[in-house]
This record gives sequence, C-alpha cells and structure tokens, in this order.
Amino acid sequence: MKSLLGISTFIIGLACSSLASGQEQNWLPPGSDTRPSKPIPEWVLGGELKGDALIGRLLFHSPSLLGERAVRLRLSCASCHPSGHRNDRFFIPNVSPRPGFVDLTHQFWFKAGEDGIENPKRIPSLHNSRSKKRFGTGPHFKSLEDFTRHVIIDEFGGPAPGSRILTFLSSYMKKLTRPNSDGAAPLPRPIPYINYVDLFGHLPEARSFVASLLLEEAGRRYRHEETPTYKEVAKELVRLRSGALTEANHQTALESLKKLSKQIP
Ligand code: HEC
Repeated sequence: MKSLLGISTFIIGLACSSLASGQEQNWLPPGSDTRPSKPIPEWVLGGELKGDALIGRLLFHSPSLLGERAVRLRLSCASCHPSGHRNDRFFIPNVSPRPGFVDLTHQFWFKAGEDGIENPKRIPSLHNSRSKKRFGTGPHFKSLEDFTRHVIIDEFGGPAPGSRILTFLSSYMKKLTRPNSDGAAPLPRPIPYINYVDLFGHLPEARSFVASLLLEEAGRRYRHEETPTYKEVAKELVRLRSGALTEANHQTALESLKKLSKQIP
C-alpha cells in the first residue's frame, strides 16, 4: 500500500469537491472567462485511453488536485489546457493581462505563492510533452513529473501529490498529440462512462480513490444533482468509495453501476 500513500491524501481533498459543476462563473471574479468557446477535440496516440492514462485524464480534470482555491473556482489543469490545447480565452481579472495569459505566481492562487512580480505567461499547449526535455519558461524542470509537482504545490498550493499521482498525470499528457501526427486519433466525445468504471479492475488496491474520481466525473456530466440517475450513480459510487464493503457487496454495487453507466450523459 506504500506506493499509494499520495493517493490517500488526495482523497481527503476530494471529499469536499464532489458537487455537480455548472456554476463556475459564480465563483470567479466578474469578467472572468475560463471556458473555451466550443468543445475542443482531444487527439491522442491510438485514439483511446486506458489504465493509468485514463486515471490521469480524470486527475487532469479534477479541481481537488490543485487545492482548495481551485475547488472553489472549479478550475483544473483542463481549464487552461483543454484537451491538451492552450485555452486562448482563459481570462481572470488581476491574473490575466489579456486572454490566454496568466500569472501563476500570484497570491490569487494562494498567498505564499506570490513572487511580488507581474509575470504572466502565455498558456502553452501540451501536445509535445512526450518528447520535450525541459518544461516551463521560469524555473526549468527536466521531467514532466517534476514540473507537474511544481505546478500543483508551488503555483496552486495544492496537496503534495504522491509519485503514483504524477505517473498517472504524465501517462495522460504523454498521450496527447496533434491531429496530423502519426497514430493520432480523436477520443470519442464523451468517453463512454463504462470505460471509467473499468478502472476499478485496473486499480483494485485503490477502490476508494477510483470511486472518488468517478464521482467527480459523474458530477461534471450532470447539470443538476437532483437528476434521478445522478442520484443513483452517486449512491453506488459513495458505497464503492467506503472502504468497508464486503467483496459480495462490492460486486453488487459495481454491477449496478455498470448498468446505470449506460444512462450517464
Ligand atoms: C490557470 C491556468 C493553468 C492551470 C490551471 C494549469 N496550467 Fe499548466 N501552464 C499554464 C501556463 C501559463 C504555463 C506556462 C508556464 C511557463 O511558461 O513557465 C503552463 C505550463 C505547463 C506545462 C509546461 C509546458 C511546456 O511546454 O513547457 C505543463 C506540462 C503544464 N502546464 C501542465 C499542467 C498540469 C498537469 C496542470 C494541472 C496540475 C496545469 N498545467 C494547470 C497555465 C495553467
């Protein structure tokens, strides 16, 4: 279980963030705009994501990864790098001098992260993360994992990620690619929810972690928490998240979730 230590810290963060999304603008300063104008196709090597890379995609969309402020603002890695592209519309007054630029070393994100300098950077695309040897234009990092740890801790004041969390995230980012590159194909939109349910089989030693991420993903897909299928899905996922299920109860909850997943938007 040792290698999953970072995961258990992460779940604590998730506990307060499993609300259905849809109110992002209500939490941001007036004049903010954080969503791309239209959905952006997501091109990945081989056109599908499984296992670690699929978990990485869930983390990439999870505000909890970036800490408390991001949870309240409903911001995740994907807000700035949607489908691995740069979000040219991203704009938050105070930290963005113009759309597509952002100062990540600003007290807006967390107090101790302020460097006293106005140094907004253009949001980059992550499409060549696989082959890059240096990351960032400020302090340079030689690995994607080290840069990602820096983003989470130093820029957003998020909880220190364990090495598994960083492996999941980099597995995902290394799959991101441009439409015309070799082996590129777009992911189905939306990714069938059942693909995520299969992650319980990929990571049987971390069921609570998987259930927490799936609960967040379900929340993102529904407009209202009052939707009857959302309530049923959430009920099963909360059962699966509790560490105390017997094997038989776990299987029953999983079967029920598999059936319900066909109705998830
Ligand atoms: C608020 C917007 C924002 C969010 C949220 C964000 N980033 Fe970034 N990201 C940026 C900006 C701006 C840069 C450019 C930084 C620089 O030039 O040093 C960047 C740079 C990067 C790079 C380096 C790319 C390169 O080619 O050098 C990686 C990798 C990256 N981000 C991954 C992530 C991950 C993973 C997350 C979530 C854990 C994340 N980012 C969250 C804005 C954001």
